[in-house]
Amino acid sequence: MKKREDLRSQAWYGGDGLRSFSHRSRSRQLGLNPEEHLGKPVIGILNTYSGINPCHLHFRERAEEVARGVWQAGGYPVEFPVATLSETYQKPTPMLYRNLLAMETEELLRSYPIDGAVLMGGCDKTTPALLMGAASAGLPAIYLPAGPMLRGNWRGEVLGSGTDMWKYWDERRAGNVSDCEWTELESGINRSPGHCMTMGTASTMTSAAEVLGMTLPGAASIPAVDSGHHRLAAATGLRIVDMVWEDLTINEILTADAYADAVATVIALGGSTNAVIHLIAMARRSEIGLSLADFDRIARQTPVLANIRPGGEFLMEDFYYAGGLPALLGQIKDLLHLDRVTVTGRTLGEHLDGAIVHRPEVIRPRSNPLSTDGGLAVLSGNLAPDGAVIKHIAAQERLLQHTGPAIVFRDYKDMQNRVNDPDLKVDADSVLVLQNAGPLGGPGMPEYGMLPIPDVLLRQGIRDMVRISDARMSGTSYGACVLHVAPESFVGGPLALVRTGDLITLDVPARQLTLDISDREWAQRKAQWQSPPDRYERGYGALYQAHVTQANHGCDFDFLARPGKNPDPNPR
Ligand code: FES
Ligand code: MG
Repeated sequence: MKKREDLRSQAWYGGDGLRSFSHRSRSRQLGLNPEEHLGKPVIGILNTYSGINPCHLHFRERAEEVARGVWQAGGYPVEFPVATLSETYQKPTPMLYRNLLAMETEELLRSYPIDGAVLMGGCDKTTPALLMGAASAGLPAIYLPAGPMLRGNWRGEVLGSGTDMWKYWDERRAGNVSDCEWTELESGINRSPGHCMTMGTASTMTSAAEVLGMTLPGAASIPAVDSGHHRLAAATGLRIVDMVWEDLTINEILTADAYADAVATVIALGGSTNAVIHLIAMARRSEIGLSLADFDRIARQTPVLANIRPGGEFLMEDFYYAGGLPALLGQIKDLLHLDRVTVTGRTLGEHLDGAIVHRPEVIRPRSNPLSTDGGLAVLSGNLAPDGAVIKHIAAQERLLQHTGPAIVFRDYKDMQNRVNDPDLKVDADSVLVLQNAGPLGGPGMPEYGMLPIPDVLLRQGIRDMVRISDARMSGTSYGACVLHVAPESFVGGPLALVRTGDLITLDVPARQLTLDISDREWAQRKAQWQSPPDRYERGYGALYQAHVTQANHGCDFDFLARPGKNPDPNPR
């Protein structure tokens, strides 16, 4: 147990010097009496609230509830507004800014008198960003996930965010949805605060945070507007204070076993491909080498049990009523490391005792999985020497072993201009290839990976085809989309060499992605390839461009991913 004099914040408030006088007198200026805060753990509440982030719209209220818990436990809560990464509004993609929020998180925790942190996130990149920064800072920390929004509703049909938007957009382009219906859909699909309630990146990453041991048990599945979520916020604030006294730091929780369990859980959930990049980046911050090969190995042993869109049928609200993440984890106990410590100070195994599945159609039993060999596959081959990823459970079966001629789009703009060109020679066997959409080319590796099916094919009833890019794909998307091809085309990866008409073979069972051209042709094209000009001339974009790593390394900045020590910002 820590003593009051051991608190990190004592370097600011304790002792008799001029500086501590200054800090205490400023606390009086803040309206605090000495007995209210002196000698108490200072809890930084990092809040990603913004009026433009609908997924975090309830976070002002939740931050107050966290603070209530902190006061009750004898701590001193201080809220820090940090960058919001709104998946919907931030362009070109919040992925460009994940590392910025991670840096902000780390440096706030380091430079202020903070003893422990509550990290409030949920919308896609906020979860990895906050956890990456907190892992590098190394203090006691606990995660408060935003919780999924309610199910969408339209004319008696249940709608999933993202997933059903793409679905009805295709139907609209096929001429099957009227203007009036389209307007109704706009109001019906996203009905409450909270993150996407499909098994997109948000639900995948908050669930990963939970199984890593970074949240209170059951936290990730509680809908944002459920009363249980208010109570969760207060309980999270209550717990972090004791974590400080117990000196239970984030690095004791985020172990190699924890990351392996997060991978297994992502697979069992049928989770987002984005988790591959984020978990690799997070693990590196914890000085653990997690690789694409680990994902493929764990995926082959892990069944998909969560029947949630886009891979399945239901939504996160149903998952909560079915027992939530603990119920799912209870089904795969044999694949997990149960003796790991979590934020509660108890083990993962202790939290899973008595976990029950209430709706077996939502959380399937081991005897009836959605897929036995995992939801993700890692591909290699001459077109992706450093790997590529496909979420094959969200693709049509007939495309999983497929050879077809490429139709190449130079970049996103080119694709938008030409994909619906009536002269485009495309059929259901064509392989759509998008270049220059990776970490540097995108820039920021935008979610362009679910290339649109050309209108002409939609009208013929085609709803899936093989698509290949160095981009990412929204976790709510679906289809035979090969993603994260590394190295990316912008830096001269083989994807840059593909030309329209080349034969490409996707073979998911063999985990291969190959371009069928002669060695001579290959060498010739390589020699002709020219590096495109830099995207950014100044500012954060220039920093990003100089330091971002490729997808197989997690797209962190090289100087953030490496281990090393920095000086104490406020030596006593
Ligand atoms: Fe925020 Fe989907 S837009 S989680
Ligand atoms: Mg998303």
